[in-house]
Amino acid sequence: PLVPMRLLLDHAAENDYGLAAFNVNNMEQIQSIMEAAEETDSPVIIQASRGARSYSQDNYLRHLMLAASELYPNIPIVMHQDHGNSPATCQSAIDNGFTSVMMDGSLQEDGKTPADFEYNVKVTKEVVESAHSQGVSVEGELGCLGSLESGEGEAEDGHGAVGKLSHDQLLTDPDEAERFVAETDVDALAVAIGTSHGAYKFTRKPDGDVLDMKRIEEIHKRLPNCHLVMHGSSSVPQELQDIINEFGGELKQTWGVPVEEIQRGIKSGVRKVNVDTDNRLAITGAIRKVLATDPSKFDPRDYLKPARAAMKEVCVARMTAFGQAGNA
Ligand code: G3H
Ligand code: 13P
Ligand code: NA
Ligand code: ZN
Repeated sequence: PLVPMRLLLDHAAENDYGLAAFNVNNMEQIQSIMEAAEETDSPVIIQASRGARSYSQDNYLRHLMLAASELYPNIPIVMHQDHGNSPATCQSAIDNGFTSVMMDGSLQEDGKTPADFEYNVKVTKEVVESAHSQGVSVEGELGCLGSLESGEGEAEDGHGAVGKLSHDQLLTDPDEAERFVAETDVDALAVAIGTSHGAYKFTRKPDGDVLDMKRIEEIHKRLPNCHLVMHGSSSVPQELQDIINEFGGELKQTWGVPVEEIQRGIKSGVRKVNVDTDNRLAITGAIRKVLATDPSKFDPRDYLKPARAAMKEVCVARMTAFGQAGNA
């Protein structure tokens, strides 16, 4: 069944594990996640960005999610709006069957301009009051995602930089986090610790200067009962970069968030881990491989099946590493 996210986060906290939240845009990605969940006996968080909703169209997405819950009646599934930019976006998600929404008030409604604390509290609180009355969970975000290496902040969906931000803006302040959660009553809080969306997160394997896991530990000490969320948490595995480049792609060498750092976060209250890029890399590598090694192929199933299998493999690996396996 489709369930509110709070239900899964509470279970994860009681049992010390984290849940991967995978982004989707189409049927094959939903199938990959559900097959991985079935194989590992995992509860599921599926999320759609604003861009995903407009690409796939809400009606298609809603029916695909209903199909998933029909096909897998024993797996609890959350359908989550990723990076909602306004109360109106969150309400339209709820109207389309989403059981959880993110009100990302760390930026203004344009998704680009850093917002002040008061604005963030105001819009997030408004969404919480309305969503909770409809049985829907809410994730908020405090602090701006962006690179501690370059100082560049990033737009809500990772499409474009917002310009240089101060070190303070790029890291969630523990005092503010305490006030934010008290004032908004969010079900989950996304924190900024130096991760960013997309493949190009770090120019080397990250250490504590550019990926501030200590910050999560500090926030968790202040807010032991708050479910924390890590965005930009793809690991950008070397093997997936290599497959793409071996078959004609052009990715520059890059580093993501190591799985062991995420596991450290899970020990300190991280309950939701957002992963999109790793699945994009897996899909693209599989498709490139088929088309490069067998250029006569033109039936979409010939490359979409391997693509689906490659994404499933990433999902199985993350579900297992984060400890959600066995908890459906
Ligand atoms: O927010 C970032 C996710 O990876 C979704 O990206 O806005 O390109 O759909 P998107
Ligand atoms: P990645 O780009 O690291 O997969 O992050 C996805 C994300 O945070 C979606 O909100
Ligand atoms: Na989200
Ligand atoms: Zn994100």
